Amino acid sequence: MAIKITGTGSALPEKIVTNFDMAELVETSDEWIRERTGIAERRISTGDTVSSLAAKACADALAMAGKAAEDVDLILVATCSPELLLPCCACQVQSSIGAHQAVAFDLNAACSGFLFALNTAYAYLQTGLYRNALIVGSEVLSKLIDWTDRSTCVLFGDGAGAAFMELSEEDEICENGRPVGIEGMVMGSDGAKGMVLACAERAVSNPYYQETEQVNSYVHMDGQEVYKFATRQVPACIKEALEQSNLTVDDVDLFVLHQANVRIIESVAKRLKADLSKFPMNLDRIGNMSSATIPVLLDELNRNGKIKKGDRLVLSGFGAGLTYGASILVWGA
Ligand code: ACO
Repeated sequence: MAIKITGTGSALPEKIVTNFDMAELVETSDEWIRERTGIAERRISTGDTVSSLAAKACADALAMAGKAAEDVDLILVATCSPELLLPCCACQVQSSIGAHQAVAFDLNAACSGFLFALNTAYAYLQTGLYRNALIVGSEVLSKLIDWTDRSTCVLFGDGAGAAFMELSEEDEICENGRPVGIEGMVMGSDGAKGMVLACAERAVSNPYYQETEQVNSYVHMDGQEVYKFATRQVPACIKEALEQSNLTVDDVDLFVLHQANVRIIESVAKRLKADLSKFPMNLDRIGNMSSATIPVLLDELNRNGKIKKGDRLVLSGFGAGLTYGASILVWGA
């Protein structure tokens, strides 16, 4: 049995906002943002929504896989910024692309969301309950950001990425002897540290109770705590996933990491004693799009021919929750 990704897709808003544009909004500079984060520009929605971006990314992934929307069994959308609380974004996507047979629901693990969706879909496919799944990370974080807070507004962007996963009954062995499919995964959550990166929704309000405390409905973050968490937890969970699969860092061809900060990625590479050239990055061009960063990068690599059959990839990320995870897969498309 092999579970493999046979199509990828992505969608980005057209509007490019550079660090110089940011410096007109808040007291910051291109130099500060590049040096501390590696980001030069990001895409910002001028009307795109989480569901419209997700639907476009899904359509591209299906086209690459050569599958019709009506053949999709499961749609999982990872997002922390849906435009509607009800219905969920996955049902909106189902309707837009015409995947009438699919079961569709959302999950929220912030920036780890796409990984959690991948691992959840893997579990469903492995049991045989579904034969394929569209997994999506889609965000319009620009509406959750306080655009007067320089410590957060420079970090984030909007976009969506998707992957189509399929189950085949037969094992598939690549020329290099590696079996196609997902080889290992680790997921973790640390809710006790949740408030270091948080964004509130509506407070309790009904005829029997009114919350009196002011709710801050913008993202607020203790950047240094998140930084410490990421640089410790990401390499630890990658090592754990590799050990579980009897693999070492040297067995990995590419590390496709959550694109939050170049310094975090460099630190992870150092802690793993892995060559930084194995860590592709696109955060300079599109910033941190939370759950969308990993699938958008995966789609870029796939479309640019940077991933070939038999390559072993580690996907890993971290985010609000706090959550973290890693998946190891041998590319089969
Ligand atoms: N421009 C200029 N100065 C700034 C800016 C800015 N955009 N933002 C903060 N500063 C100032 C601060 O006010 C502070 O000034 P002070 O010394 O006078 O008080 C100074 O820069 C240093 O601030 P720090 O917060 O200590 O800067 P740091 O080096 O920690 O960098 C950063 C901040 C980039 C946020 C870093 O902590 C980081 O990357 N953390 C991880 C964040 C992250 O990855 N978040 C997302 C993960 S989860 C998810 O993806 C949703």
